[in-house]
Amino acid sequence: MENTRAVAVILGVGPMNGLGAALCRRMGQEGLHVIAAGRTADALDGVVSALASEGIAASAFVADATKEADVVALFEYSQAVGPLSIAIYNAGNNRPGKIVDMEAEYFEATWRVGCFGGFLFGRQAVKTFGAEGGTLIFTGASASLRGRAQFGAFNSAKGALRNLAQAMAKEYAGDGIHVGHIVIDGPINGDKITEGFPEYAERLGEGGMINLEQIAESYAFLYRQPRTAWTFELDLRTSQERW
Ligand SMILES: NC(=O)c1ccc[n+]([C@@H]2O[C@H](COP(=O)([O-])OP(=O)(O)OC[C@H]3O[C@@H](n4cnc5c(N)ncnc54)[C@H](OP(=O)(O)O)[C@@H]3O)[C@@H](O)[C@H]2O)c1
Repeated sequence: MENTRAVAVILGVGPMNGLGAALCRRMGQEGLHVIAAGRTADALDGVVSALASEGIAASAFVADATKEADVVALFEYSQAVGPLSIAIYNAGNNRPGKIVDMEAEYFEATWRVGCFGGFLFGRQAVKTFGAEGGTLIFTGASASLRGRAQFGAFNSAKGALRNLAQAMAKEYAGDGIHVGHIVIDGPINGDKITEGFPEYAERLGEGGMINLEQIAESYAFLYRQPRTAWTFELDLRTSQERW
């Protein structure tokens, strides 16, 4: 492959009107070659061709964040494309359920996507960054900082992901690796809410949901920070959010 442009690897990319895709576009605007990774080839292909029409170099890579071999292969592929500059772990799942009703498999599966996948991804990213380091960002949620009734599995997975991110931030800062965590505190104005829960979206209105492009801007802010002023964590919410 002839492309030696620096690379952004984003894992957890779904439909075009979702956070993963918005992050791909924003990192493409930074001049990076974007590798959009996720489980659904059709969705990834849709994102890659939409970005291509905007002049952004991107490729798709099918990977399940919870499978070690997939995550290792993703970063091997990235090395063939170009030097890794930023890696973003965006995969997440959020299905409610009461603890007493919860199958053990459900709890474990939530943790596998919410936390274990973040470990696999973060480890491979650190191994892939060159001597100059890079940026590694994890997507958090309200769940990262507090438990809430009916969301015990998701809360525990996102809370653990945050602690993992903080440990990595301290462990690899000396190697020039800037690890960040972005708490998205509230519903995102993307397909997941507007198509999955249209009545809820209507109740919230535009002003009650966090804007996709504006979220992506925060990732770019962390990415561009110089080593003498690094942020570990940002939290984002609308002015209407009760928190
Ligand atoms: N949506 C919200 O309102 C909201 C609010 C706060 C925080 N967040 C966080 O924001 C992030 C993105 O969420 P989003 O809702 O906007 O979705 P999104 O960015 O549009 O897509 C994330 C994608 O991750 C993929 N994914 C799920 N499990 C995966 C796995 N095991 N391996 C690889 N990819 C996987 C899913 O695609 P496939 O199913 O096709 O694999 C999903 O479409 C998540 O971390 C979420 O917790 C979302």
